[in-house]
Formats: sequence, C-alpha cells, structure tokens
Amino acid sequence: MTGALKLVHSSDDRDTLRWRAVEKRDRASDGKFWSCVRTTGVYCLPSCAGRPHRKNVFFVDTRVEAEAAGFRPCKRCRPDRFIQGSLDERINGIDWKRVGETLDNNGWAKLGRLLSDEECASLISGYKDQDKYRSTVVMRRHGFGEGEYRYFNDCAPDLVSALRVGLYEHLVPQANEWMRALGKEHSYPASHLGYRRQCMKAGQMRPTPLILKYGPGDYNRLHQDLYGEEVFPIQIAILLSAPGKDFEGGEFVMTEQSPRRQSRAMVAPLEKGDAIAFAVNERPIKGAKGIYRAKMRHGVSEVLRGARYCLGVIFHDAA
Ligand SMILES: [Fe+2]
Ligand SMILES: [Zn+2]
Repeated sequence: MTGALKLVHSSDDRDTLRWRAVEKRDRASDGKFWSCVRTTGVYCLPSCAGRPHRKNVFFVDTRVEAEAAGFRPCKRCRPDRFIQGSLDERINGIDWKRVGETLDNNGWAKLGRLLSDEECASLISGYKDQDKYRSTVVMRRHGFGEGEYRYFNDCAPDLVSALRVGLYEHLVPQANEWMRALGKEHSYPASHLGYRRQCMKAGQMRPTPLILKYGPGDYNRLHQDLYGEEVFPIQIAILLSAPGKDFEGGEFVMTEQSPRRQSRAMVAPLEKGDAIAFAVNERPIKGAKGIYRAKMRHGVSEVLRGARYCLGVIFHDAA
C-alpha cells in the first residue's frame, strides 16, 4: 500500500520537474524526455518555444513512445531532428519494429536522422582524401549517369565502420525473414564480421561503403548494387548535404517491378543526416494468392544546383 503511494508521488515529482524544464525551455533537458501535447497531437523537445497548457501535456521517455501513441513531431522544435549519444545509442534508439513493417510494406523505410552536421561535414571533407578510398568511379565512363563516387578501403573512418556493423545487426532478422519468404536457402550470420567471412568465401573481399558526389546536371540511373553472388537484401543511404540549401533537385528515387504490373516509382524525402533503408534487389510481397517477388531499383534524379553528397552503406563486399 505504502509502496504504491510512494510510486505515485515519485512520478508526480518527476513530472513537476519536467514541467519546470518545459517552462524554462531548458535546452539541457532536451533528449531526456519528450512532451506530448494532446490538443495539437504533436510532441516536442523541452526547449520548444511553444506554450502549451499544463493540463494538455504529458511526458514520455522516448520518441518511439510518442510516435506509437500517435503524436507527430513538432514543426517548430523538430524533435525528429534531435540527435545525441554515441552512434550505437542512436542506432539502438531507432524504432526497428516500425522500420521492419515499413520495409515489408514499401520496400524502403526512413530511419530518421542518424548523423550530426559535424559528422556529415567530416565525411564530405574527407572525400578529397584519396588515401581513404580504394577506387574512384566516374559514372559517365560506365554509362551509370553523371557524377562520381569513391569506395572506402578497409581504413574507412570509424563512423562508417560503426554504421555498417551496427545497422547490420538490426537488419539481419528481416533479411533472414525475406529469404525464407522467397523460398531461398540462404541465411545471414548475426554479426557483420561473420557476414564478411561469408562474403570472403564467395570471393567478395573488397569493401563497398562509398561516398557519392553529384554536381549540377549530375544524376544516377536506376540500378542495383550487386557485386557478386553474395547479396545482403537491404542497404542504407545517408544524405550528407542539405536539400534546398546545399543543393536543389537530386531526389532519391526508387522503382518497384512486380510480376504482370507496371513499375511503381517512389521518392524518399530526406533531410541532411537522414538515413534510409531499402531493398537492394528482390523482396517478398504478400499478395492474395501468396507471396510474390518484387524487384527494386534505385537512383538519383538530376541535381539542378549545388553539390549533393551521399554515403552508401552496402553490407555485402565486392568481388
Ligand atoms: Fe546504389
Ligand atoms: Zn515543439
């Protein structure tokens, strides 16, 4: 009895402190909790300049809880753009259940913002440092489009390696699920290190993470990043430049080809530092008459102005 009373009190105290932080627009509290505003249906950072009434506000510990309760990110304080903690913490904070469902339904899913402005800037400035890369591809020479990209060598920045290892572990259950649904006898080990060994056995040893650089008039034709027999079915792209500011145009475009149907085109709206997961090649779709295969391709529409940089994280290595 007393225990229950105590519990009620402590959560009241905590909420009082949280409300005080909201009243002060306390930046130091950002990321520690989120306020959901019932009247507007949005959730906010404690530092938001909005002035909701206390009676309309309740608090949650994570963004996942706020979104699961049906709240949208506030357009003013942009809680969805807020990042903190180590890369692993950010990766673990992604709503992987929602990502999995969205990947199943659409073949792609936004992961939200993963990289800070500083991290984006450091990857962009590192592009000119040729020692970090194993090769540069001028797209026109291969008929891939216009623009160029560079594959990191095995001395890729820690950030890139950590993304590849950390994201892989969360995508593996889905990759294995897709293989089962497609009736393929292929499975992926739990760790990326284990998977690199599997790639090695297939003769695929060269790392595939890359940075793509597009200037005015550049684009990337629809394609699939296949580098041999061994294919991990989901890959990641992270936009490093700010649309509307650093560049115009340059939309991330995907198409899905299903049996006996015209292709479906999809455009993913991305902001700087945002990550997207998408199907590399085939994915299973549940239809009325069972499971069928859809083939995905992706590309980038013409950049009209400025420079657009993107980080690609592909989990299989290349032959
Ligand atoms: Fe690609
Ligand atoms: Zn807000």
